[in-house]
Amino acid sequence: MSVSRCVSLFSRLQRRISAQPVRCTALSCHVSPGSVFLHQPHQAGAVVCSRKVSSNSSSPKPPDTSLFVPVSLKTDTPVDGSVGAELTQPLDKSELLKIMNRFYKRKEMQKLAADHGLDARLFHQAFISFRKYVLEMTSLAAELHIILSDICYGAGHVDDIYPYFMRHAKQIFPMLDCMDDLRKISDLRLPANWYPEARAIQRKVVFHAGPTNSGKTYHAIQRFLSAKSGVYCGPLKLLAHEIFEKSNTAGVACDLVTGEERSFMDPEGRAAGHVACTIEMCSVTTPYEVAVIDEIQMIRDPSRGWAWTRALLGLCADEIHVCGESAAIDFIRELMYSTGEEVEVHNYQRLTPFSVLDQAVESLDNLRPGDCVVCFSKNDIYSISRQIEARGLECAVIYGSLPPGTKLSQAKKFNDPEDPCKILVATDAIGMGLNLSIKRIIFNSLIKPNTNDKGEKQMETISTSQALQIAGRAGRFSSKFKEGEVTTMYRDDLPILKEILSHSVDPIETAGLHPTAEQIEMFAYHLPDATLSNLVDIFVSLSQVDGVYFVCNIDDFKFLADMIQHIPLNLRSRYVFCTAPINKKQPFVCTSFLKFARQFSRDEPLTFDWVCRHVNWPVAPPKNIKDLVHLEAVHDVCDLYLWLSYRFMDMFPDTALVREIQKELDDIIQEGVRNITRLIRATDPAITDPLQTQASRRGRSGTASSNYLTSSKGQRGQRDSGEVSDGSLAGRLVKDGLLTPDLLRQLQREWSEQKPNPTNQRALDTEAHHNNNKGRRKKKK
Ligand SMILES: Nc1ncnc2c1ncn2[C@@H]1O[C@H](COP(=O)(O)OP(=O)(O)O)[C@@H](O)[C@H]1O
Ligand SMILES: [Mg+2]
Repeated sequence: MSVSRCVSLFSRLQRRISAQPVRCTALSCHVSPGSVFLHQPHQAGAVVCSRKVSSNSSSPKPPDTSLFVPVSLKTDTPVDGSVGAELTQPLDKSELLKIMNRFYKRKEMQKLAADHGLDARLFHQAFISFRKYVLEMTSLAAELHIILSDICYGAGHVDDIYPYFMRHAKQIFPMLDCMDDLRKISDLRLPANWYPEARAIQRKVVFHAGPTNSGKTYHAIQRFLSAKSGVYCGPLKLLAHEIFEKSNTAGVACDLVTGEERSFMDPEGRAAGHVACTIEMCSVTTPYEVAVIDEIQMIRDPSRGWAWTRALLGLCADEIHVCGESAAIDFIRELMYSTGEEVEVHNYQRLTPFSVLDQAVESLDNLRPGDCVVCFSKNDIYSISRQIEARGLECAVIYGSLPPGTKLSQAKKFNDPEDPCKILVATDAIGMGLNLSIKRIIFNSLIKPNTNDKGEKQMETISTSQALQIAGRAGRFSSKFKEGEVTTMYRDDLPILKEILSHSVDPIETAGLHPTAEQIEMFAYHLPDATLSNLVDIFVSLSQVDGVYFVCNIDDFKFLADMIQHIPLNLRSRYVFCTAPINKKQPFVCTSFLKFARQFSRDEPLTFDWVCRHVNWPVAPPKNIKDLVHLEAVHDVCDLYLWLSYRFMDMFPDTALVREIQKELDDIIQEGVRNITRLIRATDPAITDPLQTQASRRGRSGTASSNYLTSSKGQRGQRDSGEVSDGSLAGRLVKDGLLTPDLLRQLQREWSEQKPNPTNQRALDTEAHHNNNKGRRKKKK
């Protein structure tokens, strides 16, 4: 080799070492729409950037490096081939190993790497990867080969490896090179600035404060109806429906917008001046005269709180009427300091007083007309309603997973003075959104399964706020039960209930926030190889929030993201799919979600016929509880279809037809629930035997329901876990009872059918490419 070639080679290598990080080249082909995302007028965008100046001064928390998943590098032969070996001579592997291990032990190197973001964990991982790379590559890049050769022959120092090691580390951990950018994107410290339209006007905030059934919503709605335009934001579809109907009945044209439904009063689909919506769906860019935000205390809800924060800070209305517990007054005032808006408080007292009785009911023999027995598990609902029926009494049943039509028809049956059904058995689903003529609330238990901060299930005594919300349903203005009563089924529970109700509700101290699609897209732009689940994890770990805010629990989002990670989808579509509000406890809904995503990724529209085949439509009326639970899941699958149909209209084209079968299904479920005790009788004797339930109660120590629930969960775990007990996602799903072994096997069959073999890999790549383009087309629309 000529000297001039050597010189030119070295200068070229020099340039490459100091060149921009590799990710830049990778990015331009991976995320071509990235620049569009970056310049999208995301409300946060401009403000986030301008905020940086001040936020940089405070020292950010160190990142959780356990979330940094190394990127696997392609072991391409370097362009300069075996030039290094030509210049020097082949390297001795055992000598190389010694050098590498010497480098690893150098404290100075560890310190230097730490200063550049490699903590002990990352240093170790990067070193292992780098050593493997050096030892396994047939030919190394010339400059590295030369350095290593020099060290071998005593002409160089082991520390000379550092720049090459660091370059490798940044290739496998691309986040190291863009930590500042990632921190800027995930800075959630001034959420009020995300809503320029709202900040451009001076809003008046009116807080309607008081207990349940004190007329808070009523008064806010009076103002809504008298305004030229208004938006009602409620926590439930049922509540949005109620206001939609009330408003139209009062002659004020009002549209309805929920995740799964849009009803426009104008035959041509033009928006009316008024709209009733579920809170997640409210527009923060449409101007209104009056906005009503109901149940404001839900701003601290671990999963949905962000929607209240967004509505409160973002609604673009002259008057914002918030309704909720008095425990939120001070907090809302504090939040409004950041927007410079005053809060006017209207206090309300209960329209119908309720009292806590001194006697527990003790036996179902002592039930009276107007009683509502409150349980916290479906099993208890089945058991109690079966026992009530065995006493020759009729009862209505309401729990969360029933379709809205069924809930309303059960409520109607119970409220109807002419109907023989005088008892209601319900979960805390009655706490909001249904008008019920209840005289006496009877807590069958005071213990409710909850998910803690770590996402673990645990049994907890209900909070004062929860107890009040439920107890507040006793007594109804405009019914014959003007005065409500509250008690427990069991004597031991009564003093506990009194104690719970004697406390004041904990003041609300924090409000939820949620990363937006745009923020996650900006993350993906920097970390194109990370999975969506990993992206949101890194986002949350880096995010900075002010003390009054918290980042909402994103476990459900991650659960869905993991489930469809293997399906080729562009990031925006993947993100939208993962925000679908589905009940992950229903295996059939999860499988359907997966199938929808797969069909979507193949660019095959999900037609009505396809859906009918998938859910086996037409369905037979339920013969037992298992059938009923399945039909409830089918109803949810229709909801999922409808939800997606509003986000991907061309891929989910048959909204009207699916809505029709969903309505029919609601009727079938209504009929099933009307005969629920017959279904219970035809089911598992374990949940129908009153004696057994009583015995389990007797064996308890104040937590019978908890034991009952835990043991039934345990049994399910044992029954279902079968052979799948590994730590994989599938294993975990089965272990948690979220996926049955049968469904898992079905999924595995489908996955293996899907697994690409070398001949169809190209087809799959083409499909993925096609889908990416499709996503882009949609985005432009
Ligand atoms: N001033 C009023 N006149 C007629 N009905 C009212 C009045 N105030 C409340 N109600 C009725 O009482 C019930 C409870 O009122 P609501 O506003 O829902 O209570 P809250 O929102 O405080 O729980 C509703 O059915 C509502 O329509
Ligand atoms: Mg209300």
